[in-house]
Parts: sequence; structure tokens; C-alpha cells
Amino acid sequence: MSFDEIIDRRGSHCVKWDMMETLYGVSPQDGISMWVADMEFRPPGCVQDALQAMLDHGIYGYFGDDSAYKGAIIWWMQNRHGWTVEPDWIFSTHGLVNGTAMCLDAFTREGDGIVLFTPIYHAFAKVIRASNRDLVQCEMPIVEGQYVLDFDAWDAQMQGHEKMLILCSPHNPGGRVWTRQELESVAEFAKRHDLLIVSDEIHADLLMPGQAHLPMARIEGIADRLIMMTAGTKTFNIAGAHVGNVIIADEGLRARFGARMLALGLSPNSFGLHMITAAYSPEGAAWVDDLCAYLAENARVFDAGINAIPGLRSMPLQSTYLAWVDFSGTGMTREEFTARVEQEAKIATNHGPTFGKGGDSFLRFNIAAPRSVVEDAVARMQQAFGDLQ
Ligand SMILES: Cc1ncc(COP(=O)(O)O)c(C=O)c1O
Repeated sequence: MSFDEIIDRRGSHCVKWDMMETLYGVSPQDGISMWVADMEFRPPGCVQDALQAMLDHGIYGYFGDDSAYKGAIIWWMQNRHGWTVEPDWIFSTHGLVNGTAMCLDAFTREGDGIVLFTPIYHAFAKVIRASNRDLVQCEMPIVEGQYVLDFDAWDAQMQGHEKMLILCSPHNPGGRVWTRQELESVAEFAKRHDLLIVSDEIHADLLMPGQAHLPMARIEGIADRLIMMTAGTKTFNIAGAHVGNVIIADEGLRARFGARMLALGLSPNSFGLHMITAAYSPEGAAWVDDLCAYLAENARVFDAGINAIPGLRSMPLQSTYLAWVDFSGTGMTREEFTARVEQEAKIATNHGPTFGKGGDSFLRFNIAAPRSVVEDAVARMQQAFGDLQ
């Protein structure tokens, strides 16, 4: 398959294109949609074939026997991330936003503090607030153009009611792949403040050349406070399948989580399970390697074009396909630069403030699109900010 193919998604009930005008005032007729984190690519043949086999069979009943599904996850985690998972550690949820909500529900109470390193994926804050937990935002400083962790400041910020830390690893937005040393300091921070760690690793497969993701589960001494969340939906562009995994090694935490799953009557969606079982395979792995190479070149093209505009700075990506662009150097207000991007360049992006403290001067551009679309976006941006040249 070619990642260069332009596939028209307009009118297909996809939020990315069919809601861009309502939300950002950018028409899908002549605009480019670069917000929501899904890709403009079809998934690999093995995933399409699995779905086609379901269609050919034509009966869509309840799912049973998840041994192949769990086997595929175990194979993937071992082969791609060097992490050994046991079958009974795996719970299947309706994606990782649902997984996050389930973790809040199972392990915390109203009023508990939930720590986030911001700016961070916006849905975490949404579910934290909606479930009446206290959102504790620990703002990450930028050092040499990239986000870093600042535990001295954050130790002083803790008030004692914090019960959980939701880590985004790799980090969205900003695209950091955390190092072993950084993850070890996260573990120490969690121990010092007696926090459970929920590690959302949905972007773990989307790595730039030379990067290696280290699952939090491979950090020693935290299994009794760790809940892992993984998914193949970003990796294979099947987010609409709404399937994710909450993986818990600790027996006590597992029992609590399992009890809430039972109480809420949750059971998996067969379409998602069939697709992930097919995706976590050697064919799926080869496709991901090709995808990552394509995304790396997209990132190079995008960053070169954006960084050539005085005052704009695209954070170098170590992972994800989400370019995080800082407009603070333009001296413009947020309203001014956003208006230029939306009304002049006609590009729909995610607005920085949605990602929490530290996001104000940023917009997030999704570059998982055919190269020609990324080039078009860069040209539009250069035109819209042409007076800065
Ligand atoms: C860090 C992170 N977690 C979770 C999600 C969404 O997960 P799901 O579609 O499984 O609910 C996203 C989507 O962008 C994300 O970036």
C-alpha cells in the first residue's frame, strides 16, 4: 500500500473532517484537517482481511474465547517492547479514555488529587473533572526545545490528597520518549507521594528513527502501584474500533479493577478484538515499520518548513505524529495566530490551551497524512505568515 494515496474521508461520519467546520470554522471543501489524532491511511491488509472475513461470514454475535486476542497482545509486547505479559493481567476496555475513566472509578474517590504533567492529552483532564476528582497540573518546563520533568518543583506542589498520576508515555503533545532515567524518577516521585501510576502508552509503537520505547512495567519496584494502558488503535489507525487494554500485574489492583468491570457490565466489542488480533502480527509489524519511516519524513518536511517561518518553532518529535508548534516568537496574541492558521491557511488544528497549563502559545498539527498534504499545509502556513519572512 502507498501512504501517498489521498483518500477522501469527507461525509464518512469521521469527526476529523466532518466536524472541522462546526468546531474550527474551516471548511472541508478547501481546508485541511490536522486536528484529531487519527491518520489519513488505511490499516494494513491483515486488518482489512480480518474485517472482510467477518463481513463474509455475516453473523455478528457475542464474542467468546479471547485466547488468540490475548496471545497477540503478549506476542506484540514481547517482540516490540521487550515486556512479558501474562494472559490474566489483560482487561479489554472500550479504548483508553474509557480505560482512564475506569481507573479513576476503580482506584480513587471524589476529591482525590490526580496528577498530570502538562501540557497533556486533553481527555485526561476531561474525565478527571467529570468524575469530580481534583485535577493537579504539574507544568513541564522546556529545556533546549523539549519538555523535561521537574520533580523539585512538583514535590513542593503536592498537598497530600494526590492518589494517582496519569503518565503519557510517549508524551502527547510534545512527542517525548521518556528515558529510563526519567521513568525511574517518575517511579520515585510516585513512591514519595504514594501515588498509583496509570501509564498510557498508546503512542508506544509510533517511534521516530533511533528511538526505543521503554514500557513503565519494565521499571523495577513499582508493580504494586502500576496500571499499564496500551492499545493498537493509534498504531493501526482503527480508533473507531474503540478497543484498548488495561494490563495489571498486581493481584490486588487487578481484583479491584476486575470488580468494577463486572459491576459496570463491560464486555468487549468483537470488531475491535478481531482487528487487533490480526494487527499484532509479523505483517502488522512490517507495516508499522514502513509507517514510522513515512512519518519520520513527514516530520522532517513539516519541521523544516515551519521552522523556516520566523517566530514559529515545531518541537522535535521522538514519537507520535502530532507536531506541537509554538507561536510565542511571533509576538502575536493567541487569537491572532489562530485566526491566521484557520482563516488564512485554512487548517484545522488542536488549540494549545485544551492541553492544560503550558499550552497557551501552541497549536497541534497532525502530520499523519499523505506527504503532498503535509507539503500543502507547510506552503499555506508560509503564505499565511509570509509577512514575517
Ligand atoms: C495519550 C492518549 N491516550 C488515549 C487516547 C485515545 O484513546 P482511545 O481512542 O482508545 O479512547 C489518545 C488519542 O489521541 C491519546 O493521545
